[in-house]
Amino acid sequence: MISTVFPTSTPILTGVRLQVRKLQPQITLWRRLIHQRPELAFNELQTATFISQKLTEWGIEHQSGIAKTGIVAVIKGHRPGPVLAIRADMDALPIQELNDVEYRSQHEGVMHACGHDGHVAIALGTAYYLSQNRHSFCGTVKLIFQPAEEGPGGAKPMIESGVLENPDVDAIIGLHLWNNLPLGTVGVRTGPLMAATEFFHCTIKGRGGHGAIPHQTVDSIVVAAQVVNAIQTIVARNIDPLKSAVVTLGELHAGSAVNVIADQARLSGTVRYFDESYEGYFEQRLDQIIGGICQSHGASYQLDYNPLYPPVVNHPDVTDLVRSVALSVAETPAEVIPDCQTMGGEDMSFFLRAVPGCYFLLGSANQAKSLAYPHHHPRFDFDEAALSTGVEMFVRCVESFCRN
Ligand code: NI
Repeated sequence: MISTVFPTSTPILTGVRLQVRKLQPQITLWRRLIHQRPELAFNELQTATFISQKLTEWGIEHQSGIAKTGIVAVIKGHRPGPVLAIRADMDALPIQELNDVEYRSQHEGVMHACGHDGHVAIALGTAYYLSQNRHSFCGTVKLIFQPAEEGPGGAKPMIESGVLENPDVDAIIGLHLWNNLPLGTVGVRTGPLMAATEFFHCTIKGRGGHGAIPHQTVDSIVVAAQVVNAIQTIVARNIDPLKSAVVTLGELHAGSAVNVIADQARLSGTVRYFDESYEGYFEQRLDQIIGGICQSHGASYQLDYNPLYPPVVNHPDVTDLVRSVALSVAETPAEVIPDCQTMGGEDMSFFLRAVPGCYFLLGSANQAKSLAYPHHHPRFDFDEAALSTGVEMFVRCVESFCRN
């Protein structure tokens, strides 16, 4: 008996690419519409309405108004199987756009300067494709449109609202368009990809007085100056040199006149690190150092510490799957970048703590088209050819994870 040998997956994969590429003009249009109407954290009302309209048009079951403006859509494959979530953030930044393009922001002082407009468009493209190709996967895909990634953070309230339950999510993936990588590349890394992001504000209280009579005062500027220098030793002398960390003071305010000793000084900064074992450590060390210096000068202080987002840590198994998909999407293996890491932060970290998953970076810079400004720059824009690549990545991840 002669057995029939069916062709391997190559023709199907070619089919995915062709179908997704045909969606490129639509995805680009959606991205530009969203780009024109950027909205700040927890205020993504027009964006959410647009997403909901599209999902309704395509007959995709979804729930709106989660954690204020979040949306969760559910797309079932042709038979039961695992549940894969795909996350896209929706919010913009308080930046005045300087790009002179027809789709520039129409909202004064607000701009999609990080690429989240592209993330929404990619997730919509993926939703459309999957809804039209339910035969190509089993199980369930949950699309999570999340508010407020830029802070104060929409991931946590969405998880608390139960978006990872009913049905329970087995794994989660997400991407960030990335202008630090050229178009055509995909950054995939096991373990920590992005850093923990923590903020602190400190008020040092001395005793003000006449600039010519210092012995009657406690000079908050002198105390603050010692604090500024001393906290640099946390990274230099307390952190394992093989484990990266950053302590940056972004603000220092004190004084109002040349001949007045300042009553108080205010310092604000951010802490970044990859290693989860350092959680709580920086707050403790800052408190010890600031407390010790203040005590030695007779000053007092108040430290407000906000451990905003934990590090973004990718699970080995899900990352292996994303990497193999990236190798099939990329033109050459060299375009799958294994060692990408950034001290930037992301609240995707909360999802990755709750379920195994992988967050990856999708190269979007194109120097030749002057599309290479850094994220959060008023001239930030990206090469829209990355949009269909993003959809192809997600679709192939679904077909690989929720294999027939
Ligand atoms: Ni971002």
